[in-house]
Amino acid sequence: MKDHAGQSISVWMATAELPSFSKLLMNEQADVCVVGAGIAGLTTAYLLGRAGKSVIVLDDGPIVSGETERTTAHLMTALDDRYFDLERLHGEKGARLAAESHSAAINRIEEIVCEEHIDCDFERLNGYLFMPPGKSTGILDREMAAAQRAGLSDVHMVARAPITSFDTGRTLCFPRQAQIHPIKYLAALAQAITRDGGRIYTGTHAAKIEGGKSARINTQDGHTVTASAIVVATNTPVNDLLAIHTKQAAYRTYVIGATVPAGSISKGLYWDTSDPYHYVRLSVGSDVLFVGGEDHKTGQADDAEARYLRLEKWARSRFSMMTDIVFRWSGQVMETVDGLAFIGRNPMDEPNVYIATGDSGNGMTHGTIAGMVLTDLIQGRDNAWATLYEPSRKTLGALKIFAKETLNVAAQYAGWVTPGDVKKDVLVPPGSGAVIRRGLKKIAVYRDDAGKLHEMSAVCPHLEGIVAWNPAEKTWDCPCHGSRFDRFGKVVNGPAITDLPAEEPPAH
Ligand SMILES: Cc1cc2nc3c(=O)[nH]c(=O)nc-3n(C[C@H](O)[C@H](O)[C@H](O)COP(=O)(O)OP(=O)(O)OC[C@H]3O[C@@H](n4cnc5c(N)ncnc54)[C@H](O)[C@@H]3O)c2cc1C
Ligand code: FES
Repeated sequence: MKDHAGQSISVWMATAELPSFSKLLMNEQADVCVVGAGIAGLTTAYLLGRAGKSVIVLDDGPIVSGETERTTAHLMTALDDRYFDLERLHGEKGARLAAESHSAAINRIEEIVCEEHIDCDFERLNGYLFMPPGKSTGILDREMAAAQRAGLSDVHMVARAPITSFDTGRTLCFPRQAQIHPIKYLAALAQAITRDGGRIYTGTHAAKIEGGKSARINTQDGHTVTASAIVVATNTPVNDLLAIHTKQAAYRTYVIGATVPAGSISKGLYWDTSDPYHYVRLSVGSDVLFVGGEDHKTGQADDAEARYLRLEKWARSRFSMMTDIVFRWSGQVMETVDGLAFIGRNPMDEPNVYIATGDSGNGMTHGTIAGMVLTDLIQGRDNAWATLYEPSRKTLGALKIFAKETLNVAAQYAGWVTPGDVKKDVLVPPGSGAVIRRGLKKIAVYRDDAGKLHEMSAVCPHLEGIVAWNPAEKTWDCPCHGSRFDRFGKVVNGPAITDLPAEEPPAH
């Protein structure tokens, strides 16, 4: 079984159990095979199962061992990308469909929670968007008008957010957002999938994915699943070489959790408009405050400690009742060039291969929308949101950001000609990693706590970027398209589908 997507532990991982499933040990067949058991994969499998389809879910870790266990699980129509930007990029109709689909996703989660009697701390609450100090609130006025045009007629301005310890100033209120405990929710969804006849296999790495008449998934252990349709819900598609990866970029984001006296902060979802912005919520008992932010492109910074400290400073200066920091974790989000997910047929592939990716920081609702859209498409039914989320779309208004991200990726290939992080593997301390140069080769070296060296190629098997050591999560992260590997080189995040090849250390 591969490692989780990092060493840090989120509040959800610390407070709930997941059911365990076995490895796939023989060839199997189903109507639909879903690869990836995060919110997108499990929601899709659940809805397909309810619609009477036979479903197999494969995951190479335990279920929910990707980014879903690292979320802060704000369920919101207050999207990370502003509605006035979505209007510019997708038109007024597109912005309306975006608002409608995210509202519907929150409603769908609520319905599932009720129908399945899931005890997962689902709670409706208001969301508040405010400006950093000293900035004009004109953006909030523009956003209110655009959100209302998009159909969110109850979005309104308030004099300040209901936080007593600091004055947010004029704040935009999005009523009836929600929060949830994602692991409790998905543990129950997984059980419902198997109750409805679905089969879930973990520790099962999809090594090759082929659509067409005899669509099949070959696993690393040599077994095959055949299916009429395949859904690749691996957060970022592992079956797509370039088409999607030029239209989205991987960002690392950080969260701290601090104890606060229960009830000292009004429950709500809170965001500011800084870049990168801060996101805030409370635990179900209102006694832990979570503050996230400090995002950077994956593999392009290794200063997690400083980022956690900056988050703490930001939070302490606003929430003076904060005492101990009890959680620190990080995770990855996929930012698309036009602010919305890619859900539908995989471009340049057979018509029965589907993907769900590009969470844009709203992956809990985008993952749920994926389940709704893909269930319709696989059954040959129309879906009103399918065109908006179509993965092959080209958004003209996003050309500038597309060019900026493309240049940033190109610059990362300089890693081939730079010296290593240290000169020799003997300089790598226990429990740590570094990239070294050996002749023309770049080698990723990890020294375990017992002092043993583990060496692998530092060349990412996706498109040959040079990976970087992530000291906070003890992973190797690729700065090009966000592939990540555990300390021993096992792939934990696509787009790479294979591990970093092992290298033999030279005799010293
Ligand atoms: C710190 C943080 C805060 C966030 N906050 C919010 C928020 O408040 N609201 C919100 O809406 N979104 C938020 N997000 C985003 C959201 O959590 C994610 O977008 C979402 O959980 C991703 O779900 P997923 O199903 O696409 O991917 P994942 O949960 O990553 O699932 C993908 C699965 O695929 C498996 N897999 C990968 N490759 C293979 C393979 N080859 N074979 C088999 N299995 C494979 C992985 O093991 C994994 O289990 C946040 C994310 C982070 C990191
Ligand atoms: S993720 Fe594309 S080269 Fe590494």
